[in-house]
Amino acid sequence: MKLPLPPLPAALQPKPKRPGEAERVKPLDQAKEAGIATLDWVDERTSLSGAARWTMFRKVPRGTNWFYTLGSATLFAFLSQAVTGVFLAMYYDPSVTHAYESARHITNDVFLGEFVRGMHKWGSTVMVILVCLHMARTFFFGAYKYPRELNWLIGVVLLILTFVMSFTGYLLPFDQRSYWATVVGVNINGTGPLVGPFLSDFLRGGAEFGSTTLSRFYAIHMLLLPGAIIALIGAHLYLVARLGTTAPPWLKAESGEGLREERT
Ligand code: HEM
Repeated sequence: MKLPLPPLPAALQPKPKRPGEAERVKPLDQAKEAGIATLDWVDERTSLSGAARWTMFRKVPRGTNWFYTLGSATLFAFLSQAVTGVFLAMYYDPSVTHAYESARHITNDVFLGEFVRGMHKWGSTVMVILVCLHMARTFFFGAYKYPRELNWLIGVVLLILTFVMSFTGYLLPFDQRSYWATVVGVNINGTGPLVGPFLSDFLRGGAEFGSTTLSRFYAIHMLLLPGAIIALIGAHLYLVARLGTTAPPWLKAESGEGLREERT
């Protein structure tokens, strides 16, 4: 929509063009044209604009509120963890002799190291809190019901993977606290029925805590889990786009009004 121009005194009105005078192209318009031309070029070869429209421009049910942003907030927390994690991985050394020293080096010597490490550490707590709040929102709004049961199940796996991320990351600074907390955690896992002993053996990488344990935790923390989480978030968001979001329960109660506005 074009906004009406403010009333201007005659002296400030743009002058009418003289006959034969060419249209002056403003740099901003040129930049816009260049952007559109580039997007057109890509779209002509990939037809991606349809997919982008399908994903982004959607109707949402009446009554959608701030609680619906918790999923995106969790996604943002995950992306922040991924970015800060990449920078930490540039300096971290997952060997029993160097792990503690490399973490100390990041905090004390590396430019902005303490800041990035702090963001990663507090970000992990924020992500756990957000994922739990998001799960509570979907639960209390009844979003786990037909036809979104599969998305709920994917969510449950994402929740477990988020917890395993925290658990495996806790060992990495390799100080007294992280070491003994992980010993306790692995032993608790070992008490689980049937799979417990196998799980704790797998996590330790043998009967004793040692260098294999640390490198195994590191590989799980920065390769296996992020890969699995990215794939599952992809599936999760595909289903959200495919099925739309649930209307708030108080609208559904009003003669199914909220449901009618939903896109299926
Ligand atoms: C890494 C973790 C997760 C991310 C990044 C994520 C992201 C999202 C996003 C962006 C949405 C759409 C917006 C919204 O409704 O908030 C959504 C919807 C949904 N999520 Fe998650 N989610 C995660 C974990 C979970 C968990 C743990 C559960 C439950 C066990 C879950 C269940 C659902 C359901 C059922 C919906 C559909 C909501 C509706 O139809 O109203 N998600 N998720």
